[in-house]
Amino acid sequence: MSGNGVVIAVVGTQFGDEGKGRFIDNLIRSEKITHVARYNGGPNAGHKLSVGNQTISLHAMPSGIFYDDICNVIGNGTVINPIKLAAELADIAKLGIKLNPKTLVISNCAHLILPSYIIEDIAKNGHIGTTAQGIGPAYMAKAQRSGKLAAILENPEDFAQLVTSDARAAISQHGKTLEEWLGITEAELTEAALSAAKVLQPHLGDTGALLRSVLKQGKTILAEGAQSTLLDINHGTYPYVTSSSATSAGVAPGLGIPPTAIREVFGVAKLTMSRVGEGPFPTEITEGELLGSMRGTKGTVDGEFGGTTGRPRRMGWFDALTVRYAVEVNGISRLGLTKLDRLTGYKNLKIATGYLCGDQHITEFTTNCDVLSNCQAVYETLPGWSEDISSVTEFGALPKNAQAYIKRIEELVGAPVAMIGVGAERDQMIIR
Ligand code: IMP
Repeated sequence: MSGNGVVIAVVGTQFGDEGKGRFIDNLIRSEKITHVARYNGGPNAGHKLSVGNQTISLHAMPSGIFYDDICNVIGNGTVINPIKLAAELADIAKLGIKLNPKTLVISNCAHLILPSYIIEDIAKNGHIGTTAQGIGPAYMAKAQRSGKLAAILENPEDFAQLVTSDARAAISQHGKTLEEWLGITEAELTEAALSAAKVLQPHLGDTGALLRSVLKQGKTILAEGAQSTLLDINHGTYPYVTSSSATSAGVAPGLGIPPTAIREVFGVAKLTMSRVGEGPFPTEITEGELLGSMRGTKGTVDGEFGGTTGRPRRMGWFDALTVRYAVEVNGISRLGLTKLDRLTGYKNLKIATGYLCGDQHITEFTTNCDVLSNCQAVYETLPGWSEDISSVTEFGALPKNAQAYIKRIEELVGAPVAMIGVGAERDQMIIR
């Protein structure tokens, strides 16, 4: 059915922000990718990309935009905020990258995030600590069949009218002014909606048909996951999750391709684990110098602060149970690890190998939040290293203790480590 083309999916194995972008960049080059397609989520995601000496924050845009010969697809499983997406396009253009209808295609079946959804998300005032981008309400509207499809952007006047009346209805329900909620007047909103629709209109298309034809031509698609396994609506730590299918199981429905076309699932894990928002985090470090040194500094390229909200991320030791769970749920056959360099200088490194729940010692991850919130991580301790590893490109050139640490992780999580990040730059990567 799918010709000889295949899909390689890239998924997060923890609570998001693992640094998927840099592996996507690497796979684009090593696997001869022609299409990079986002299949879930929306502007709740945030990744920083550096181009020369400029850094740009992307939210909804796929990670292939820096390549002239890559077609970037925003699939039907995503939710889009047209005004924000048009602003991202403008930011990208400032870097000299002009996306055209061949290099960016947006599904006309993606669901729209309307102003009322954002207001509802904010009005819930930090319910589970969302990113307040209207993600939950947009997927709710989709599931209850009252959502609006991106196809309406074909008619900018209709879209502007929809947004304006939707905002008015939200204000009459929640009170306050639109400016107080969203920092924009009604006239500005209408104008922004009109111009966003005009910008996005040429990029709309039937992305499912496009991707299936790409498979028939024998090409390779990279399916880019946003968020991660433990934030997945079905397989995460519910209710402390996002509202989409972030695991590899979301690829087929989110892109309109057959699940049998998925050749490989590449998982990404961060060695200094983090979580933003609420929810259980058994290996969390809640105070002290260690927390500060793991989190790093705000504003630096590897500082651990939310890409969308700027919130400081909660930090913790590597948890082998969560990553093994992700390996099993997603069918991960290769792993990319980020931030090995950030562990340099610690005398000892801890890896969680079990949880103590009352007098019960469990060694398999559970998504049951009652259990997770009341357990203590059981650690194995490994010796650290102090050598600067930021220019190491060969696994064998790493300090012996760093090699042993990675090998132990492989044993514990049940998947081979194929790439290891040792710094924020593109080429600071060990390929095995
Ligand atoms: P929402 O996706 O904005 O509804 O937020 C639901 C939960 O997912 C919150 O705990 C957010 O902090 C978290 N979340 C959503 N997107 C990301 C992400 O890209 N990285 C990390 N956490 C995220």
